[in-house]
Amino acid sequence: MTGSKILIYVNGVKYVTDNVQPEWTLLSFLRDQLKLTGTKLVCGEGGCGACTVVVSKYHRYEKKIIHYAVNSCLTPLCILHHTAVTTIEGIGNMESKLHPVQERIAKAHGSQCGFCTPGFAMSMYALLRNNPEPTEEEIEEACSSNLCRCTGYRPILDGYKTFSKSYCCQKEKIETESQTLKVSTLYNLSSFSAYDPSQELIFPPELMITRDMPVESLRIVGNTMTWFRPSSLEELLLLKKKYPRAKLVVGNTEVGIEMKFKGLHYPVIISPTEIPELNIVKHTAEGIEIGGCITLTKLNEIMNDAIDKLPEYKTRTFAAIVEMLRWFAGHQVRNVGSIAGNIVTASPISDLNPLLLASKSRLYIQSAEGKKKIMIMDESFFTGYRKTCLKPDEIIESILIPYTSQNEYFHGFKQARRRSDDITIVNAGMRVALEKNSLRCNYIIRDCTLSFGGMAPITIIARKTSDFLVGREWNENLTDIVIQLLSKDMPLAFSTPGGMVEYRKILAPSFFLKFYLMVSSQLLSSEVIETYCGIPPSYLSAASVFKHNRFQGYQEFEKSDCSQQEHSSMRKPMVHTSAMKQATGEAIYCDDMPKYSNELFAGLVLSTNAHAKIRSINYEDAISMPGVYDYVGANDIKPGCNRGCIEYGEEIFATEEVTCIGHLIGLILADTRDNANRAAKAVQIEYEDLPVILTIEKAIAAESFYSPTRQIRKGDVERELTLSQKTIEGEFTVGGQEHFYFETQSCVALPKAESGEMEIFSSTQDPSGTQKSVAKALGVPSNRVICRVKRLGGGFGGKDMRGIPIAVASAIAAQKTKRPVRCVLDRDTDMSITGTRHPYMFKYKVGFNNDGVINALKMKMYSNSGNTRDVSHGVMGRSILTCLSCYHIPNVEIIGYLCKTNIPSNTGFRGFGSPQAMLATETILTDIGIKCGITQLQVREINLHRNNDVTHYNQTVEDSRARAVLNEVIKRSCYESRKLEVEAFNKVNRWKKRGIAIVPAGFPVSFTSKYNNQGGALVMIYTDGSVLLSHGGTEMGQGLYTKLSQICSHVLGVPVDKVHIVETNTSSVPNASPTAGSLSTDLNGGAVLNACEQLRDRIAPYRAANLKGKWEDWVKAAYTDRVNLSANGFYRVPNIGYNWNENSGRVYNYVTYGAAVSEIEIDSLTGDYHILRTDIVMDVGKSLNPAIDVGQIEGAFVQGIGLYTLEEQCISPSGYLLTRGPATYKIPSLSNIPNKFYIYLLPNVPNKRGIFSSKGIGEPSLVLASSVFLAIKYAIIAARKDSGFHKMFRLDSPATCERIRMACTDQITMAVTTITYLIMHEFYNESIIIISS
Ligand SMILES: Cc1cc2nc3c(=O)[nH]c(=O)nc-3n(C[C@H](O)[C@H](O)[C@H](O)COP(=O)(O)OP(=O)(O)OC[C@H]3O[C@@H](n4cnc5c(N)ncnc54)[C@H](O)[C@@H]3O)c2cc1C
Ligand code: FES
Ligand code: FES
Repeated sequence: MTGSKILIYVNGVKYVTDNVQPEWTLLSFLRDQLKLTGTKLVCGEGGCGACTVVVSKYHRYEKKIIHYAVNSCLTPLCILHHTAVTTIEGIGNMESKLHPVQERIAKAHGSQCGFCTPGFAMSMYALLRNNPEPTEEEIEEACSSNLCRCTGYRPILDGYKTFSKSYCCQKEKIETESQTLKVSTLYNLSSFSAYDPSQELIFPPELMITRDMPVESLRIVGNTMTWFRPSSLEELLLLKKKYPRAKLVVGNTEVGIEMKFKGLHYPVIISPTEIPELNIVKHTAEGIEIGGCITLTKLNEIMNDAIDKLPEYKTRTFAAIVEMLRWFAGHQVRNVGSIAGNIVTASPISDLNPLLLASKSRLYIQSAEGKKKIMIMDESFFTGYRKTCLKPDEIIESILIPYTSQNEYFHGFKQARRRSDDITIVNAGMRVALEKNSLRCNYIIRDCTLSFGGMAPITIIARKTSDFLVGREWNENLTDIVIQLLSKDMPLAFSTPGGMVEYRKILAPSFFLKFYLMVSSQLLSSEVIETYCGIPPSYLSAASVFKHNRFQGYQEFEKSDCSQQEHSSMRKPMVHTSAMKQATGEAIYCDDMPKYSNELFAGLVLSTNAHAKIRSINYEDAISMPGVYDYVGANDIKPGCNRGCIEYGEEIFATEEVTCIGHLIGLILADTRDNANRAAKAVQIEYEDLPVILTIEKAIAAESFYSPTRQIRKGDVERELTLSQKTIEGEFTVGGQEHFYFETQSCVALPKAESGEMEIFSSTQDPSGTQKSVAKALGVPSNRVICRVKRLGGGFGGKDMRGIPIAVASAIAAQKTKRPVRCVLDRDTDMSITGTRHPYMFKYKVGFNNDGVINALKMKMYSNSGNTRDVSHGVMGRSILTCLSCYHIPNVEIIGYLCKTNIPSNTGFRGFGSPQAMLATETILTDIGIKCGITQLQVREINLHRNNDVTHYNQTVEDSRARAVLNEVIKRSCYESRKLEVEAFNKVNRWKKRGIAIVPAGFPVSFTSKYNNQGGALVMIYTDGSVLLSHGGTEMGQGLYTKLSQICSHVLGVPVDKVHIVETNTSSVPNASPTAGSLSTDLNGGAVLNACEQLRDRIAPYRAANLKGKWEDWVKAAYTDRVNLSANGFYRVPNIGYNWNENSGRVYNYVTYGAAVSEIEIDSLTGDYHILRTDIVMDVGKSLNPAIDVGQIEGAFVQGIGLYTLEEQCISPSGYLLTRGPATYKIPSLSNIPNKFYIYLLPNVPNKRGIFSSKGIGEPSLVLASSVFLAIKYAIIAARKDSGFHKMFRLDSPATCERIRMACTDQITMAVTTITYLIMHEFYNESIIIISS
């Protein structure tokens, strides 16, 4: 029997439908059809986990109900026939009760912007469904494939580890100890409701029918695709015969990506998931036979089970598979991705194929035609890039993975940009069978296979090397020969996709050296290893496999002042006001707003050339496509409005010339997102290419700069440089950084029928700027445009200026069509058009004395500003002003150049120019320390500024806490003793090196443009006593609404739950400054204070007259007495304003200080690194809300780790961004945070210039991640010393695994031929450009 309907349960509700398109994903079904918007779309490519939901099904071959987490963005709806789906809405809500996974992430402060929160909650939910009492390790693993851009992961882990018994005991101990330390904990364990597994949704009994019924065949016919689910092998093979080009879909983690991102269309899909033969697990005499549909999670289970039950020697390949699967994608992908899917995709960077080749695994191949074919997997299986020798009608039925024999050894290796959940740069499977020669007391190689991924267009066997080794003695001489042979076996082509050619060529022999050491240490005990193999024990450091220690976090802060009013939440770790809603999926973001009935979706028509004249635009074909309504371009804008309404002169729609790939040319309006985006790509544009400049180097050569340059001069730099005892001249680059806010740029423009009014719902950090630009573009006064912002799913500066063009374009479309227009960018579009943090280049000369005291600094800073000036000028200004952090240099000359290039305009990002410039200063200090032979601490202490020093911008240093935070972090981190331990470790480990670095920082808080330093608020009290607070700041996860509610409640003297903030709205508070620069609490908080004080004073007489009454009575009395219960508040930062021309005036209001010590360990053979521990001491004044402040410190620090060590953008020579999603662009994951992460807020340090004595904290700790960068540099220095290299070397940011490995010069790097290397390097620079400059 063949069915044509899908039966699926969602949150206990049954849906039976025959109206399904096979291309629908579960996510589109949930969000678009069922209007369940709690599940979020972030990347659409399985790389972030935000869309995680739980699927439950009766597994007929495992004979049990299984629950597993999946990425709903990649899960085809059709594959879910007869399953039950649970989404965030199905487990708890605000109205009834939160599920513990929702409550704990919220109460532990693990939800900031909240866009990732439902995904984390569902990953944790899946774990608990399978294992109600998980260990801490299992919880870490369950959270490890969900990304978060805000929190730094610590609070999420903290909240979820409360599900493990061991963690709860420790936490209780900390809580008890905290009482004696006079500190508090961020949350109270006893407030968490207990987890009761018996309360979970039951598995729908109807779905148990699959247990007793034969498999039903399915055939779902859509408009452009047909989906088959055959019920027997025979049916499958016949279908494959009939439709040889059909794709088999098991997990859809390859096919889904091909369809979505590579534009491939498959008219026929066959899903073999229910075929018994493809689900077998059979133990044979030779190994284990595994059905092709077995998922990677199941494969892991099977391998582990065998490892537990069989003798160790038999399961060495299995152990390597288990180790590889640890680093293979995330658990959502492993839960659905299949072994055959991985093999047949034939990706050159498949993680399983090198292991299967090296182990001589066997494939059982079937077709309708002939007999079962058996094939040993070797290089002949792969016939080309993503091609195999399978005939179109053949399928893989099963795979046999052989046991290893007694003297056979097997290991797998993988190096990726990010250790966990990342695709491979190079991987390998290595197998050697040895024969003991008892007479000569040595081992001879009897058989050997070395297989590699990432070294050719296919997974290959290094045949010459493998064959050569057979018959040789197993000794240390092998490694030198293998280095030479591998280069010949795998002569990476110059044009190898993915670049990193030299690194890859070095990784392959580095893996072999590891393999050699691993096998040798298995053969012999470490005591005798040196005697027999000549291997020094310190070399065994290369043989250990990375083990992740359990994560530990600790936070210490002052207890809230007891003298405060009882109900006041001031200075307490109050939970983010939206956290609960975010955790239940009820928080509404821009794209969660219900669709208007006549709404249109805008797809962007973007330039495909980096610099060109537009010859013609032809949208005829596009507007005749299904669902398309209209095209909107420059001709639809009122004359004179196309240029000038977006600040700094950029056009809304390009007219004559495009200046980057991704330049906005027009919009296609259609009924759905897919139709609009598809048609937008069909608009034909003819270009006439013009010369392209992409990098800073090219811009300098062409003198392509925006004017004016920024500069500052103090003292006599030339003279002091000449007089200095020592000088260093150098160059240094810091790469850009993608904001990667989880919610992409989104807006809805809603035209009104009267007076040209327009309402804009936008995910902007700058509602007033959006309002102003939209009004100008529409040719109406600002009072006709209202911009409304409920919340943002992260901003980090990227939604200040760069969201405005999208809002303006949508408003023009809405004005033209008189219909609501929604525009929500896909992740790849967002990443490729909205700009990033500016890449910087620094050229400097610094003069100093023998004792390390710096006399003079001369520096040129270049930023890659992109195709418009945007806020680059302001960013550069801040780089120049803040670059010296908390150091004093008496003579300074700095000039900043804004490079005009043909990449999308770069823009503000958390720190606004300071993180790049401060890292340059820290690098200079580090090099000075080395040159003077003094410690890194000495060079920093000796140059630290003091009160009454005058900065290079002529502001006197006051109330400096630089020394206080530095001293405290030295003490807290046990810096001196750990430094000695690091040195001791490095002496006995040749291939693993540790580094420890200490960094203090002073981060000035203020907008440099004086007019921005103001804030407004409107506070209204209603007669029932409830308070409505409006202000100019936007909530993007940073807790602004929470802190402002705390201020309001404190000043009015009402409980905080009486205060509500609906949204930020330009009709409540006009002319607000953008929410940025760590000072939104100061500006808006000052205004709230001002308004609340007025209201408090107005109500005071009624309070005095009725002391026994309550708030509601006083409000009512005041109202009856005709008192105005609404007040408007205003605040401006006093005595501020800097004049660049005269280098005078006050730049900042105050400085937030912090200091950090980070210790890291690198693997000098691969460049892999991990952070062992970070201690941060921060001066936040008197914290308004320690939980929010700690959250900002941790979140910014982890973002800084990304900036300085991980995140790297690549573009093609034509200017096309290659890193446009989480698959290629790596933000920190759980695996990148410090293993021990300790935060201390400096006590007793009120800030007299901040609101309620607090300090702004959104940005400052980001720069402290430079301690991680510098610790890496110190570890590399130690590695280089072992190879005899003592000279200083240049390490640019980010310190990626590639840069680390390349800097750890050793016999392998030197042996890879220099000439080839140089040629390749040149070519490589031509074929991929890393935007480090
Ligand atoms: C976010 C993400 C991370 C990833 N990380 C990794 C990683 O770290 N390492 C890695 O190696 N891969 C990774 N992948 C790739 C992918 O997950 C794996 O290759 C997975 O094993 C594919 O299995 P699938 O069932 O999802 O394949 P599908 O997409 O369902 O199918 C893939 C291909 O296999 C064919 N096929 C499937 N079964 C059979 C069969 N029995 N006989 C013949 N042909 C068959 C299909 O026709 C199709 O061409 C990642 C993918 C994503 C989306
Ligand atoms: S949105 Fe599905 S994994 Fe990112
Ligand atoms: S809270 Fe995780 S992405 Fe914002």
